[in-house]
Amino acid sequence: PAEPLVLGIETSCDETGIGIVRGRTLLANTVSSSMDDHVRFGGVVPEVASRAHLEELVPAIQLACATAEVELADVDAIAVTSGPGLAGALMVGVAGAKALASALGKPLYAVNHLAAHVAVDIVERGELETPTIALLVSGGHTEILLVRDIVDDVTLLGETIDDAAGEAFDKVARLLGLPYPGGPKISKAALDGDRTAIRFPRGLSTAKDRTPERGHRYNFSFSGLKTAVARWVETAHRQGHEIKIPDLAASFEEAVVDVLTAKAVLACQDTGVNRLLLGGGVAANSRLRELLAERTAAAGITLRVPPISLCTDNGAMVAALGAEVLRRGHPPTVNTFGADSSLTV
Ligand code: KG4
Ligand code: ZN
Repeated sequence: PAEPLVLGIETSCDETGIGIVRGRTLLANTVSSSMDDHVRFGGVVPEVASRAHLEELVPAIQLACATAEVELADVDAIAVTSGPGLAGALMVGVAGAKALASALGKPLYAVNHLAAHVAVDIVERGELETPTIALLVSGGHTEILLVRDIVDDVTLLGETIDDAAGEAFDKVARLLGLPYPGGPKISKAALDGDRTAIRFPRGLSTAKDRTPERGHRYNFSFSGLKTAVARWVETAHRQGHEIKIPDLAASFEEAVVDVLTAKAVLACQDTGVNRLLLGGGVAANSRLRELLAERTAAAGITLRVPPISLCTDNGAMVAALGAEVLRRGHPPTVNTFGADSSLTV
């Protein structure tokens, strides 16, 4: 018999993502982003994102089916991100998925957004090698996960205690007068800069990052770094020093990627896991990839970086995880579940 056809719905932030997989084969991955609607606000506005999902959801599903050359009626199961993410945005996806599942009479699976970022590697290479550490870095989240089994054994080892890594890029860009989203602009400016020009603080350096109440020491903090950059710029203005944007951008970028890579490698070493998978929109950052490649190679760790279209939020990752849950024979999620903005793994 043919492998099951699974449709995945992702609406946790500003991307309306629909993915369709047959077993472990990706058939469609359509993403429609409300990013342009958020530019004038300098960041994602939850209410604007929710409304955009409402408008985009049905056309996105139709487009994905057309791309995959399947009929909606042929879908065997629906998977949807139930959290974490923006509450209102999640609710649109969850409500849509419930309606679709009940209209089609097909089972519905609620999946975790963070685990889905990791599961995407299954459709990229046909399998996920475990155990693996995952470093997820985006505008909305920053986490280190230990994945022993993608369906049944995913542990959160660390997360940001304030701003997400991408958010730090966006906030510093704003400070420098660069438009949202600022991450790509900062990393472009940094290409011509000297990353040793300014020594910015590394948030929660390992020795200080002992949080026994949470039981791990792979947390991140980026709000102090943002303040340090703001103070540096103020001082330069006051003293009439020229601000070299490329040097500032490169030095800031280095502070972010230094802690991200150091802690990801440390997590691998402490757990004895010699695989690291990168996910999230900040995976587009070339310095992050470069330093990760250097440090993982030095530590004998195998680094996996899926294509960027699968690193940013998308429906393929949700469908991929849904298909895996189905493959295990787990029962569908009861239709009474809701969106859970603070869901953890
Ligand atoms: O995963 P994503 O597309 O959306 C969510 O945040 O959910 O990630 C977007 C984030 C933004 O904060 C953006 O500034 C950042 O990723 N970003 C980058 C780069 N490209 C995107 N940050 C640093 N360097 C980049 N090249
Ligand atoms: Zn994400």
